Amino acid sequence: MEKELQTIFNEKFGGQASGEYFAPGRINLIGEHTDYNGGYVFPASITIGTYGLARKRDDKKVRLYSENFSEKGIIEFSIDDLEFKKEHDWTNYPKGMVRFLKSDGFAIESGMEILFYGTIPNGAGLSSSASIELLTGVILKDLFQLDVKMIELVQTGKRVENKFIGVNSGIMDQFAIGMGQKDHAILLDTNTLEYEMVPAEFGDYVVAIMNTNKRRELADSKYNERRSECEDALSRLQTKLSIQSLGELSEEEFLSNTNLIGDETLIKRAKHAVTENERTKKAKAALVKGDLATFGKLLNASHKSLQYDYEVTGSELDTLVAAAQAQTGVLGARMTGAGFGGCAIALVKASAFANFTENVKTTYKAKIGYDTDIYKASIDDGARKLK
Ligand code: GLA
Repeated sequence: MEKELQTIFNEKFGGQASGEYFAPGRINLIGEHTDYNGGYVFPASITIGTYGLARKRDDKKVRLYSENFSEKGIIEFSIDDLEFKKEHDWTNYPKGMVRFLKSDGFAIESGMEILFYGTIPNGAGLSSSASIELLTGVILKDLFQLDVKMIELVQTGKRVENKFIGVNSGIMDQFAIGMGQKDHAILLDTNTLEYEMVPAEFGDYVVAIMNTNKRRELADSKYNERRSECEDALSRLQTKLSIQSLGELSEEEFLSNTNLIGDETLIKRAKHAVTENERTKKAKAALVKGDLATFGKLLNASHKSLQYDYEVTGSELDTLVAAAQAQTGVLGARMTGAGFGGCAIALVKASAFANFTENVKTTYKAKIGYDTDIYKASIDDGARKLK
């Protein structure tokens, strides 16, 4: 693949790239919709992601091409004009990275050419956009020899989503993609950014990724809606409680104060945020102990909460997760990522994986009318230069 990409780079830009880079996608084991509520998340970077081949130019032109959007051709802009432009489409993600790093004082003084190629299925909820952001970050760091830390690239990626693209997402995706380590999941406290690398040891089990193949449409507006519902619930709780985020509440504290919220929907949203945070801490403890049965039960409980309290699943994810949970050898399953489509994960006995795949595919197709794609997740390092 890398060789073919050099050929494509040569066709599009002429000559050779000076460097090759990769940024993964991510799965989230558990801790969903907690990262903008000051809670814990438990994601991991995976082997599928985005490749980039790049080199500097002598002038100020930035010329970007994606093999995934070949019909759009090379999209071009200048490092002196880094405004968001709708017609610049996917390149707004790399453009946002250039813009914010530049405005933070990092010396990006000439243009560049970059070829992108992603192996993350589009709209799969495995963070292809954060993957493009962090890929751009490591490319810029290397091409311009920037003295920038990975955590700064992570935070810049989040700013691109929030302030340039307009999605009010949390820091989980960029953090997992930037800081990921082979065979480890990251327990991240999104309140303090303290984190712990936890060996992702599943013994006789594997983590399956199952794609609903339903694209996350409308996700961004619903995403922002959930976020503001949680903010609303928090400010109602703050009339009596001195807390900064929902993540500070235990389930008991929350349940004894729901009267302060006083609205059924908002109570459900906040309940998810609080209980999911507790589940995430318990799941980490279970994984460390090797208690995979408990870990699996927490995955199931997480899905239920996302389905009924947070209401971000939808029939495709619910069908897929229920089909997975019904199979022999499965300890648990849940949606992963923002929801509304995209992917789910399941903890499946390795020896049962073939049957599992066949059965889940059959059930899903019969109920939904199109296929699901299922594969084993493997956890690998975060964004990096390849050579
Ligand atoms: C998306 C966002 C993340 C996180 C998840 C839900 O992936 O980008 O910040 O909020 O949804 O857990």
